Amino acid sequence: MLPKILVVDDDRHTRILFEHLLAKTAQVSLAADGAEARRLFAAEDFNLVLMDQRLPSDNGIDLLREFRARRPHLVGILMTGFADVRDAVAAVREGVFDYQTKPFEDLEALEAVIGKALELDRAYREIHGLRARLSGESGAADMIGQSPAMERVLGQIRQVAGLDTTVLLEGESGTGKELAARMVHALSPRATKPFLEVNCGGLAESLLESLLFGHEKGAFTGAGQANAGYFEKADGGNLFLDEIADMSAKLQSSLLRVLQDHSFTRIGSTQARRADFRLICATNRPLLAEVKAGRFREDLYYRIAVVSVTMPPLRERAGDIVPLATHFLDFYSAKFGKSCGPLTPVALQALESCRWEGNVRQLQHCIERAVALHTGGPIDTLHLFPDGKPVASAQDATTPAMIAALSYQDARVDFERDYFQRLLDAAAGNISEAARLSGIPRQNLYVRMKRWGAVTDK
Ligand SMILES: Nc1ncnc2c1ncn2[C@@H]1O[C@H](COP(=O)(O)OP(=O)(O)OP(=O)(O)O)[C@@H](O)[C@H]1O
Ligand SMILES: [Mg+2]
Repeated sequence: MLPKILVVDDDRHTRILFEHLLAKTAQVSLAADGAEARRLFAAEDFNLVLMDQRLPSDNGIDLLREFRARRPHLVGILMTGFADVRDAVAAVREGVFDYQTKPFEDLEALEAVIGKALELDRAYREIHGLRARLSGESGAADMIGQSPAMERVLGQIRQVAGLDTTVLLEGESGTGKELAARMVHALSPRATKPFLEVNCGGLAESLLESLLFGHEKGAFTGAGQANAGYFEKADGGNLFLDEIADMSAKLQSSLLRVLQDHSFTRIGSTQARRADFRLICATNRPLLAEVKAGRFREDLYYRIAVVSVTMPPLRERAGDIVPLATHFLDFYSAKFGKSCGPLTPVALQALESCRWEGNVRQLQHCIERAVALHTGGPIDTLHLFPDGKPVASAQDATTPAMIAALSYQDARVDFERDYFQRLLDAAAGNISEAARLSGIPRQNLYVRMKRWGAVTDK
């Protein structure tokens, strides 16, 4: 069946142009204004929408946004005059597939872009079944995030997914890098091909090498039979190298060669094999800093950081905490077969006031534990934080809800730890001096400081 394309343009010549250009490859519907476009869009499931930016009584970008709100996977191409390119670029950042400037100069290039857009649509549709399976395993098929920071990141992910370039995902632990890597795969034209992942930090150098490159029979002790590596197994698909900063110098240079030549050889073999995988890398240590510190090859860095996406820490997107918590609550309630919830207003406030050093993973575990131990019904602060640990420090507890969520014991611990740390700083690390300044007997002080980890036994 031919793909269905909707062309929205008030210029009759443009409409005729597309009608002819796509006559053989698609089923084309034409609309001259927003009203007509809305009517057609409601009636048909289009594979692609080509949208003029300036319409008589509509803005094409807003109209595409409206369509995409109804069908988030809609692939759209914006047609724009030179004067409006800035807006078009912004729209692409928001997730519009591409923009083309009018008047069109190169019809072949235009056709190629349309072909790529249709390819992406096909992949979207094929992975729908696949996403359900992913969710069963990870607790989150879809990235939850409505904060401006996450919207931006989601837009970037959707956009880079369609490009066949290497992607570097950076961000603190637990911010969703692995989830993002799966999303890049699921939304890429390679979605129907394999997605293989390996944690570079978790394996010894020689193991990682043979896992990636594969080996011939007898290549090393224990190599009883030949084995294809991930470079081969990921053929046509995506290869995800997690914790890339942990890769040894030797493997860094081998990987660089593979990326340069698009070919590699198995260990113990001289036969060059073609490598057709797209590389996705992740790291929770900023990779450029690793380069500057001499721990990561600069040339490799530039190969893998063609496009980089940084997952923001949860504390910088407090707006996502409640949607995430609610999502995990539903997920674990269903998983454990319980009817838990809702989260009480005080519980929600307590969740929002946490610093979440462990980011989304920590929030997920917090909800999972609460649901696992809960018998049912509303979830309150005490269910979430049985040990009373909702805020990072007593100084952060500024609202009644936050204070209510913090036990006296915890507040005291926080205060003491902070006080003794400052005291020790003031005394330049000298305990006798700290004792003199504070009026606390030296031996007493020493015991307390040891408890807070401010001093340690040699
Ligand atoms: N935006 C999100 N929406 C839903 N779930 C999320 C989101 N971000 C992260 N998660 C969930 O939080 C957990 C941690 O995410 P993930 O493993 O992707 O983090 P990471 O950045 O790879 O962490 P690390 O650096 O420690 O490996 C996972 O269970 C993931 O499904
Ligand atoms: Mg990870």
